[in-house]
Amino acid sequence: MLPGADAVADVLATAVVDVVDGARAAGRAARLGVATGRSPRQAYQRLAARVRSGWAVDPRTALVLLDEYLDLPREHPAVFRNVIEHELAAPLGLGPDRVLGPDPWSDDLDTECRRVEALVADGGIDLQILGIGRNGHIAFNEPGTPFDSRAHVVDLAPATRLDAARAFGSLESTPRRAITQGIATILTARRIVLVALGEHKAAAVRAAVVGPQTAATPASALRDHPTVVVLLDAAAASGLDTEVSGLGS
Ligand code: F6R
Repeated sequence: MLPGADAVADVLATAVVDVVDGARAAGRAARLGVATGRSPRQAYQRLAARVRSGWAVDPRTALVLLDEYLDLPREHPAVFRNVIEHELAAPLGLGPDRVLGPDPWSDDLDTECRRVEALVADGGIDLQILGIGRNGHIAFNEPGTPFDSRAHVVDLAPATRLDAARAFGSLESTPRRAITQGIATILTARRIVLVALGEHKAAAVRAAVVGPQTAATPASALRDHPTVVVLLDAAAASGLDTEVSGLGS
C-alpha cells in the first residue's frame, strides 16, 4: 500500500524504466504489456516527463495492448491503440509500429485472436501493467472467464460498460464487445504489476487478494503467478486488513 496515486505512479514509472533500460543493457528491446484506463495514466505521464528530462527510450521497445473495443470507428479517441499511441508511444518517441495488439476491424476475429496469442508468445512480455475492474476483471476477462482462457471476443459485463460510459458520453454509445488477451495469456508475462486506485476498487482488490480464488474474480488468478506486485493507494487497500496491506508496501 502506498499513500496515494502520486506514489503509485512513481513506483510504476520506475519499474517501467528499469525494465526498458535493463533489456537494453542485455542487448535486446523490452516488451511492455500496457493497460489503458485511469489506473496507469499518471505513470504514463511520469514516463513522458522522464523523456523530457533526458531519458532515452530504446526505439525498438514494444508496447503490447491487452485488449481493444470492437465496433468503434478507427479514429475514435477511445480506441485503445489511439490512446496508447497518444498517451504513451508518441511521448516516449516510439512510432505507431511499436504498438502491437488486436486489429478490432478484422473480418476474421478468430484468426485475430490466434494472432494476438502469437504476438504475445513471440518474445513474451517483460512487464505486464494491469488495472482491475470494479467487478474484478483483468483486461476484459469478465467474471466467469476460466483461468485457462486465451485471447477471445467477449460481451462486456454491464458493470464494465457502465464504468466505460463516461468515455463515450452515454451507455447507448458504449461498445458491447471487445477482444481481449485471456487470463492464461496474461499469466505468461514474466512480471505483472496490478494497479488500483480509489475506494471504488477496494472490494475487487479484497476479493482478488484474499477472497476465494475463483473465476468469479478473474484477478484472483494472478495469485498463481510467481512475480506479481500489487500497487494500491490507501483507498483501494481499505478493504484489506493492515497486516495484509502491509505486505505490499
Ligand atoms: C484496460 C483494461 C481494463 C482496465 C480496468 C480498470 O485496457 O484492460 O481491465 O484496466 O477496467 O480501468 P481503470 O483503470 O480506468 O479504472
